[in-house]
Parts: sequence; C-alpha cells; structure tokens
Amino acid sequence: MSEKLQVKTIEEFNQQPEEYKTAVRKIVRSHAINELFGAQVFDEPAIALAPTPYAKWLTCRVAMEEYGHHVRFKELGEQIGIPEAELIPGGTSKRPLSVFDFKLKTWEEFCVNKLIGDLAEILQVEDLLHCTFHPLRNLSRQIMPEEKFHAQFGEDFCSELVQNEKSRAAVQEALTKFYPIMMAFFGATGSRNNEIFRKWGIKLRKNEEMRADYAVRAKALCEGKLGLKLPKVDVDGPKAAHA
Ligand SMILES: [Fe+2]
Ligand SMILES: [Fe+2]
Repeated sequence: MSEKLQVKTIEEFNQQPEEYKTAVRKIVRSHAINELFGAQVFDEPAIALAPTPYAKWLTCRVAMEEYGHHVRFKELGEQIGIPEAELIPGGTSKRPLSVFDFKLKTWEEFCVNKLIGDLAEILQVEDLLHCTFHPLRNLSRQIMPEEKFHAQFGEDFCSELVQNEKSRAAVQEALTKFYPIMMAFFGATGSRNNEIFRKWGIKLRKNEEMRADYAVRAKALCEGKLGLKLPKVDVDGPKAAHA
C-alpha cells in the first residue's frame, strides 16, 4: 500500500483514512512539543552556561534553530487540524518525552546533550525523509542540516573538553547520566503506533531497530572517537504494554 501512496498536499491529506491522519498528527504533535520543550530546558539555558563569546554565539544559533523547528512543526500541525493547545508542552495531558526530565546544570551536560541527544534526533528525522506525507518529508529535509550542525557542535565542544582532565570527568559523568535516558527516546519495542506508521509508509523502521542502530552509532562516536565510556544499558528498551 505504502509503495504507491504519496500524499503531496494538505488537500490530499484530508482525503486519507482516519488511521493515516491520526498517525501523521501523532508524529507532528510529538515533534512540535519536544522541539519547544528541548529549546526551553536545554538550549536557551545553555546560552548562560556557555564559557566564551564564541560558544555563546553558536549556542544562540542552536537555540534559534530549535525554536525554529518548533515553529515549523506547529505550523504544519495547525494545517493538518491539530488544535493549537496540543502543539505546546503542558497544553494538554500529553507529557513531553521523559528525556526532558533531565535538569541542565553545566556546560558539559549541554555539550553531551547535543552530542548524543541530537544524534538521536538525526535518526528520528532520517526516518521521515521518505515519508509518504510530503509536507512532513519536506520539513524533515529542511531541518536535517540544522540537526547535523547541532550534533557536530556537540562533538566539537566535547572533543575540546576531553583534552582537559577535569572537564573530561564532567563530560563522562554527563554521558553516564544522560545515555541511559536516551534509550526511551525511541519508544517501546513492539509498539502498535510504530506498526501503523510503517504500514502507511510514514516511518521506515521499528523503534527497536532505530534504538539498536543508535547504540552502534553512539558507541562509535563516544568510545571510538572521543575515548569515553558508555554505561551499560538495556538496548531492548521499554516493551509495549499490549505485547
Ligand atoms: Fe530540532
Ligand atoms: Fe537539534
């Protein structure tokens, strides 16, 4: 079904079955909320923590882009019939992802957040690059270069920080704290929602496949390139309630 299905416009979207529309809305809603919440709890506070004018300048750019991602997902959400209150954190009963329960206290934590948090975001956005809903596909293609810049920002600053013993210990500590939280970011193993996303060609991969790929890429980056140690985690992730 999904090989032939291509939904190019909002008008075409409106003609799709309810299951398709609900599935697309779930993804757009989740991105709109989490981009804004991430900007509020990580990127904007990090401007004050950035140690030099250069670091502040780049952090401002990251914060600007993350707010921009929210704005674009929110616009798309409104076009496909999601009430505005559902597109902002705290606006509905929908909680932001548990990954954002983390409280940012140091510059090292922020750099680790960009290093492995935005790597996770890249994987999520990669999965939407061939989405059957073209407005979402196009939005993903637009924001991908910025997500790559955020991950590169994390890698560049972490590479600098690991040169010094004290900041290296702080980076390692942040990684040990933050990496296990990232596992839930990909959703439950055996997720029914994900099954529907794949059925309609909205997403390509299972949550567990993305999580396993993420673990491989995070290991190559953090251990291979930066010489840090990833804590042991359950790569199987949370199980779906119905499974
Ligand atoms: Fe983003
Ligand atoms: Fe980002």
